[in-house]
Amino acid sequence: MNPLIQIVSATPAAGPSTTLLYDDWYPAIRAARLTSRFGRRKLRTATLLEIPLVLGRRDDGSVFALRDSCPHRGIPLSVGWFDGHSLTCRYHGWRFEPCSGRCEHIPSLTVADPLDPTRIYAQTFPAIEQDGYVWVFIPRTGSGRRLDPSALPPVPVLRTFSPRFRTAHLSAELPCNVDHGIIGLMDPAHGPFVHQAWWWRSRASIREKTKRFEPIPEGFRMSAHAPSANSAPYKLLGVYGQPVETTIDFTLPNRRTEIIRCGDKWFSSLTTVTPVTANTCRIDVVAAWNVFYRVPFVTPIAKFFGARFVRQDQITMIQQAEGLRYNPTLMLIDDADRPAKWYFALKQARLEGVDQHPLPEPVELHWRS
Ligand code: FES
Ligand SMILES: [Fe+2]
Repeated sequence: MNPLIQIVSATPAAGPSTTLLYDDWYPAIRAARLTSRFGRRKLRTATLLEIPLVLGRRDDGSVFALRDSCPHRGIPLSVGWFDGHSLTCRYHGWRFEPCSGRCEHIPSLTVADPLDPTRIYAQTFPAIEQDGYVWVFIPRTGSGRRLDPSALPPVPVLRTFSPRFRTAHLSAELPCNVDHGIIGLMDPAHGPFVHQAWWWRSRASIREKTKRFEPIPEGFRMSAHAPSANSAPYKLLGVYGQPVETTIDFTLPNRRTEIIRCGDKWFSSLTTVTPVTANTCRIDVVAAWNVFYRVPFVTPIAKFFGARFVRQDQITMIQQAEGLRYNPTLMLIDDADRPAKWYFALKQARLEGVDQHPLPEPVELHWRS
């Protein structure tokens, strides 16, 4: 799978920060980046929730994520040497097994030294490869070394509905905190303004919509509905002559899934907005589909339009970050901003550890978009 855009970077602006949600899985990096084009092992760095990570893949295929800091004197482990089995620190040569973080060898020790290196650990985090990403579990405090992976919540999976399908993914950095990234993702009212294009929609195409939402654990679902008649990509599905139905879920901490079905044809996407720091984030979209499977050039065309779409959001958020720098007072209105209010309430409930859902029963929201 060719990357669409490895990372579209944004100039960081010092917007306001937010509270981060720990104890969950976040996508850190595309797994393919752990191997060079010539098949060589690569150590890569990523930052998740303000934590600098070094990631890699051992010769046995397992992926790992460590805090990018040697427990001896803090030099990044990513500047050291990795032989496919052990990671050696560049400063004094301490050697670590990267999946457990266990120190295997300290070159400066003499036989007379009572220190047992294997009692020393570099900080590691549970890491799993899924849908082309390395997902890393970021616990609230300290190291994830002693976490039992079977006791952790499951990593989200991109749903597919047939054995043969095509896939694509893209990423873009956003210079705003994760909350703005997420509410931008679920905001229905920006479409006709930010995503104006002949192939998508225009301001003139604005019309009133009614959408039904229902509560799901730690999130909400826009119930299965016929997609907007005023958006061109959905109109294309009309060629199959079958009813088109789409379902969109949002779940904490940062996940939006959209599934479009049209007879046995389908499109599925998983979008996440991941905090890099308390005031910057990154959006990742991974999608799979079997619609137009046999039509040539559909994948590059879909990638081109997908990238344009995300780029429009990114440009808007870069501009928004300029305004947010001065900490303005903001507002959320009904009904178009109601999903954003639910997101903040769900996040607050998780932070306080209370089992409270902002959506006690299904509701209908109305807006023009
Ligand atoms: S700083 Fe890593 S071995 Fe000393
Ligand atoms: Fe958007």
